[in-house]
Amino acid sequence: MNKSLLSFALLLAAGGGVIAYLGYENTLLKENKLALENEVAQTESDLSATSEKLGEDIKKLNSEISGLNGEIKDLSYLLDSAKDDLATTTAERDAYREKYRHEKRRMDDFSEQIGDIQGTVGTLKKLSETDPELLKKYSKVYFLNENYFPASFSKIDSRYTVNPKNDYLINSEVWPFLEDMLAQAADDKIELKIASAYRSFNAQNDLKSNYKMMYGSGANRFSADQGYSEHQLGTTVDFAVSENGFGFFGFDKTPAYQWLLDNAYEYGFIQSYPANNQYYQFEPWHWRFVGRNLAAKLHEDGRNFYDLDQWEIDKYLISFFD
Ligand code: DAL
Ligand code: ZN
Repeated sequence: MNKSLLSFALLLAAGGGVIAYLGYENTLLKENKLALENEVAQTESDLSATSEKLGEDIKKLNSEISGLNGEIKDLSYLLDSAKDDLATTTAERDAYREKYRHEKRRMDDFSEQIGDIQGTVGTLKKLSETDPELLKKYSKVYFLNENYFPASFSKIDSRYTVNPKNDYLINSEVWPFLEDMLAQAADDKIELKIASAYRSFNAQNDLKSNYKMMYGSGANRFSADQGYSEHQLGTTVDFAVSENGFGFFGFDKTPAYQWLLDNAYEYGFIQSYPANNQYYQFEPWHWRFVGRNLAAKLHEDGRNFYDLDQWEIDKYLISFFD
């Protein structure tokens, strides 16, 4: 075989090979294309199925959303109603509270009024039971009715009197104050004896008559006429001590007098006739019970009982025996 023929044959064989290869490639491509087309078709089909499902899901969700919206509306309505109810309840509660406060204020005012009335009734009762004469002035110009007698008497313990054989009487309600004072003086080693206490209208008359016989009109400087003596009240006493021979004059020089000046007010006693008073001479021995409150006030202010107006004195009647 010549060369040309061989070359041609080889060429032909190569061409055939190429063609065969190309044919094979073509077939492969076709198969791939088909596979891809199938895949695309499948994907499209899948997509469409998915889309359809998603569409259904969306529809379903939409329906659920609209259901939920409905529920939200209902709940909002319920919430609004609940708010309204709450507002009503709160308003009612506030109204009740206000009403309660108002009623309570009214009841408090009422009880206060009742308390005031009870207090006033108590005060009036106490006043009505306290002898108004006990804080009246009875000196020279102030007359005590001859029929006046203290409501009740106590006998002063004889160890505190200048003459144990005599009876010395005192208003029963004043006695506890006097007894305490005498006991305290004794504790303080101060001798303090009662030389005179209650004197009736007639007893004062007799006494004054005797003094008049002895001193003439000079007796008016130290002795009250009947009806003008504080002794008739049963709240007044004269003190004396042995170191002064149980006499009156000179009593102001004794420790007993100083003790009385310092302490008597605490037991409700004051001296009626201090030095330079306008009624009688200085009577350091003569002490009158006026109640602890008034006695303390006089002591604190350095004033004398007879220098006060009667209306000032009267304020203390309510606490006379306190
Ligand atoms: N010694 C006084 C003033 C009286 O007699 O009451
Ligand atoms: Zn006296």
